[in-house]
Parts: sequence; C-alpha cells; structure tokens
Amino acid sequence: MSKKDQIQKNNVPVHIAIIMDGNGRWAKARGEERFVGHQEGVNSVRAVVEASAEIGVKYLTFYAFSTENWSRPKAEVDALMGLLVKTIKAEVPDLNKNNIRLLGIGNLKALPIDVQEEFEEAIQETAHNTGLTVVIALSYSSRWELKNAIHNIIKDVKQGQVKESDISDELISSYLTTKNIPDPELLIRTSGEYRISNFLLWQIAYSELFFTDKFWPEFRKEELYEAIIDYQKRERRFGKTSEQV
Ligand code: IPE
Ligand code: IPE
Ligand code: MG
Repeated sequence: MSKKDQIQKNNVPVHIAIIMDGNGRWAKARGEERFVGHQEGVNSVRAVVEASAEIGVKYLTFYAFSTENWSRPKAEVDALMGLLVKTIKAEVPDLNKNNIRLLGIGNLKALPIDVQEEFEEAIQETAHNTGLTVVIALSYSSRWELKNAIHNIIKDVKQGQVKESDISDELISSYLTTKNIPDPELLIRTSGEYRISNFLLWQIAYSELFFTDKFWPEFRKEELYEAIIDYQKRERRFGKTSEQV
C-alpha cells in the first residue's frame, strides 16, 4: 500500500525545499563513479516532481549546485553542468504537458553560457504554466543572496527609493532571489547529514526540518510521502504555546 493514502489532503505543504545530497556516496557504495549517482539523482527529481504535482504542492525547490560546489574537481563540475543542460532540455515537453513552471535562483550568471541559455529558454517556455512551480537553486548560497540583498537595499536607500524605516521582514524578503515565493513549510535533507550547507537561511526561519539517511538517488515518491506524513504530525507553534495554536 502506498503511503500516499495517509496524507491529509488539507494540510499539504505549499512549498517543499530539498537539499539533494548523497549522490556520490550512493554511487561509490555500488562501485560506480560519482557521476553515476548524479545521473540516478535525476530520476529522483523526476519522481519527486511527479508526486508533488499529484498531491497539490505548489512550490518545490531543489538545491542542485551550491556556490561552494564550484570548488569540486573540474571534471565533476563539468559533468554536472553537462547533465544539467541535457536534463533541462529533455524535460521541457513534460513540464509543459504537466502544467509545471520552472524558475531559477542563485548566481545564474556564474554558470557556463550554454547552461544559462538552456535554463533561460526552459524558464520562458514554461512561464505560462499555472500548476506546480519547480525552483532550481544553481550556483546558489544563502550568504551570497543576503549579501546581494544588503547591497541593493543600501543602494535603494541612498537613491531615495526606500526609506530606512521601510526595512521590514517583507522588504528584506523582496530583495532575495526567492521574492514572490512563499517560505518553505518543509525542508528535507537526504544522506544522513544534519546541516543546512548555506541554503535558504532567511527563508527557513520557521520551516519544519526532515532528515533521512536515504541517499538522494534512493529518495522517490514513497520517501516524499513519508516526509509529508511526518510533517503533518508536527505542531507548528511559531513561538506561541500549545494551548494557543
Ligand atoms: C549531491 O550529492 C549533489 C550535489 C551537491 C551536486 P553529492 O555530490 O554531494 O554526493 P555526496 O554527498 O558526495 O555523497
Ligand atoms: C549541499 O550538498 C549542496 C547541494 C545539495 C547542492 P554538499 O554535498 O555540497 O554539502 P556539504 O559540503 O556536505 O555540506
Ligand atoms: Mg554531498
């Protein structure tokens, strides 16, 4: 029996963010090259996108490549960039068929030009879709994003477009690359690591965190359902007492 039936339909997270980790270890454990793990990881992305669309999640964010990941061996970075171009290109028809919109966050200008072009094209070709929004974090880090936001806020204050007294949570959020995207209710990290690795630090202030030992290539529909069921058992208090909520 699928765990899908245990999900309460009226309490599905609007936004789920995922730190996809463990591709390399999954491959190594099978005596394969790390890249094989990245390839298999694409199948997990596909499965999780499909499951999310089916149960009515509105935003799904994948941490695909961090600012810090540029320090990996060049061969791995190149292989990952190649895989990205190939995957994005191949998925556009299915995204359109399933009414899925693609967005990107991060320092996209740092990506190789062919990745930028392919990604931009896919974003434009799916812009009209109104179902699930899939957000890919590429060359993303939260400190990079916050640093940028601070620069831009100061610039706008100096130019008189923003008053210092206007600075609020909402204003800060509007200067992030995630502007117009609600904060995630649920953040998932795979591979048994218990850290955030510079992901969405501002946005996850009140997210529920779900950690699993499964490597990303092993994380499929049932694993997503399990995370959502766990989320639905939690009491989100936002600082209040249990009696108040
Ligand atoms: C996650 O898997 C994918 C990326 C960070 C691009 P890893 O490549 O980090 O795999 P492990 O953590 O080394 O096993
Ligand atoms: C986090 O995974 C980044 C992505 C999933 C893209 P890493 O494998 O880079 O994280 P660390 O280095 O173990 O913290
Ligand atoms: Mg890793």
